[in-house]
Amino acid sequence: MKIYNLGSLNIDYVYSVEHFVGAGETLASGNMQIFPGGKGLNQSIALSRAGSNVIHGAILGSDGEFLKQIMFDSGVDISRIKSVKHPSGHAIIQVDKSGQNSILLYGGTNREIDREYIEQFLSDANEDDILVLQNEISNLSAAFEIAIEHKMQIAFNPSPFDETIHDLPLQHVKWWFCNETEGEALFGSSNPEEIAESFIQKYHDSNLILTLGEKGCIFKNADTFIRQPIYETVVIDTTAAGDTFTGYFISAVSCGKDIEYALKIASKASSVTVSRKGAAVSIPYNNEISIA
Ligand code: RIB
Repeated sequence: MKIYNLGSLNIDYVYSVEHFVGAGETLASGNMQIFPGGKGLNQSIALSRAGSNVIHGAILGSDGEFLKQIMFDSGVDISRIKSVKHPSGHAIIQVDKSGQNSILLYGGTNREIDREYIEQFLSDANEDDILVLQNEISNLSAAFEIAIEHKMQIAFNPSPFDETIHDLPLQHVKWWFCNETEGEALFGSSNPEEIAESFIQKYHDSNLILTLGEKGCIFKNADTFIRQPIYETVVIDTTAAGDTFTGYFISAVSCGKDIEYALKIASKASSVTVSRKGAAVSIPYNNEISIA
């Protein structure tokens, strides 16, 4: 089974702030750092650091060589990333004193992915190979169609959420990764149990992982409901916690581990990520984690 990730690469500009800037407000930040990021990049790095082989698909601008470098150094297959001479995607990230973040995205070359590129990227995909997707790239609907043609398993994080998500053939998603905000937008409730119930009514053959921040997460499918608490840690920066969770969870289930184990290892890995600053650089290697 091969794992493909068609996903964003971003240059993250990270600002330390007292509080998130409000409408009409001008706020001085305490510090600014530039980190590699993007949900796609972070997830591929998490998959690879968890021990899986992952092939990454993306379009990268001339300003983003360091993004490719960290993926390569982490063991991600970057041979299919196409380089162009336009600006890469970037994110303006405010991180407050409690480690929470607020993210503004610029799509850049992430929005240049077209059907032809996706067809080439997935040309050797086989039945049951996994395709990981998020909503930071263009032509998601083509990615879905091509993955369905190849009978792949689709793992989908509908973030950032927008109305175009409803137009996708979501019944083909095997692994859903949502937070409470996305869960509410999709299923019309802010109550996690109600989200899980509405999910299974609609997508009977799928699996939902609903992440709930400091309240841990919920797993729901037709047979199982599991609550997984967080592993307590000092929170420095929550950026990439969800991406770490996705990568570690998919890595575990793809090599036959049970759901309980996948939830635990993904939660533990995320707890390490939030204890460090930055996105991709904060994601742990599997030899840093134990869930004994
Ligand atoms: O999930 C965290 C990521 O979201 C950041 O790295 C940023 O680039 C945005 O894509």
